Amino acid sequence: MKILVTGGAGFIGSAVVRLAVSRGHAVVNLDALTYAACLENVAPVADSPLYAFEQADIRDPEALTAIFARHKPDAVMHLAAESHVDRSIDGPGAFIETNVMGTYNMLQAARSFWEAEGRPESFRFHHISTDEVYGTLGATGQFTEETPYAPNSPYSASKAGSDHLVRAWHETYGLPVVLTNCSNNYGPYHFPEKLIPVVILNALAGKPLPIYGDGSNVRDWLYVEDHADALLLVLEKGALGRSYNIGGENERSNLELVQTICAILDKLRPGDAPYADLITFVTDRPGHDARYAIDPTRIREELGWRPSVTVEEGLERTVRWYLENEDWWRPLLERHGVGERLGKA
Ligand SMILES: NC(=O)c1ccc[n+]([C@@H]2O[C@H](COP(=O)([O-])OP(=O)(O)OC[C@H]3O[C@@H](n4cnc5c(N)ncnc54)[C@H](O)[C@@H]3O)[C@@H](O)[C@H]2O)c1
Repeated sequence: MKILVTGGAGFIGSAVVRLAVSRGHAVVNLDALTYAACLENVAPVADSPLYAFEQADIRDPEALTAIFARHKPDAVMHLAAESHVDRSIDGPGAFIETNVMGTYNMLQAARSFWEAEGRPESFRFHHISTDEVYGTLGATGQFTEETPYAPNSPYSASKAGSDHLVRAWHETYGLPVVLTNCSNNYGPYHFPEKLIPVVILNALAGKPLPIYGDGSNVRDWLYVEDHADALLLVLEKGALGRSYNIGGENERSNLELVQTICAILDKLRPGDAPYADLITFVTDRPGHDARYAIDPTRIREELGWRPSVTVEEGLERTVRWYLENEDWWRPLLERHGVGERLGKA
């Protein structure tokens, strides 16, 4: 299958590109190369005859039309997005332009191409979204695919808007779509402005480990390579027009998560004092959702998917990867906004 992956130079998109090529799919990676992108993320497959790269912006409809005509993909996996909640608080406009308008442009370009090709039933437009569209949970309960949308941040609102567009393009125009909403990812190639890489890299530098509020916010963590595996499964086997929640069944409070990372570092790179001594509580993020948890029953029962690693195993792999790949992360620390406290509003 030839898959057009948008956002393939980012964290999750690059995991999809690497896995898809390793499974014998042809991949066209469409990415604007924003501050969050890194072409080194796809270096392991960049020389493969199955891989092609197109630097393009999903806010540019003409560029998208040309790329569909040039490559004639069998499927689209749409991951390109502005993805950092803190940045969405400081500058929501870019999130509306890329996540809402960009998705609209992708849908229109895909629809024109699909109609010109005779509306093949096998074509797929897979929209990759987040569990943050459901808003926040209390101490109990889980998000199912039937949970009403109630996004709380400009980021999650922009993703919710894009999900609604994708659903409407299926209902109105018949475009063959599938949707997924996933919990927090972590793993290799995670851009060093997100919590887990920030904690690992600050600890190695002897800097404070910032935790928002009292650290009680709970997230359901999923190893990025497990997510990529689930995404390819939904692309190939998911029912048309259906959405699937993807989660790791690994709920941890932010404080527990950071303490686990510190314990792994104490083992792999012992310092003079326990790394947990560096934990520092900082002013909370405005609108910070208390808890996310995914009910993955649908993807497990209908498609037979479940995550392959626990959060402890995945975190140890991740810490080892950062210890071994300083050449990857060191230059990224110089990028705009990295290492600064953003989104205090
Ligand atoms: N990170 C998570 O935990 C998580 C969880 C669930 C869903 N998601 C979703 O998965 C997708 C990928 O997330 P990520 O964490 O890999 O993001 P990321 O920020 O690491 O990567 C985003 C990629 O999209 C590209 N991009 C941004 N704007 C673009 C534009 N206008 N045109 C073309 N390319 C553009 C960037 O250059 C970058 O390579 C997003 O849609 C996100 O909403 C992320």
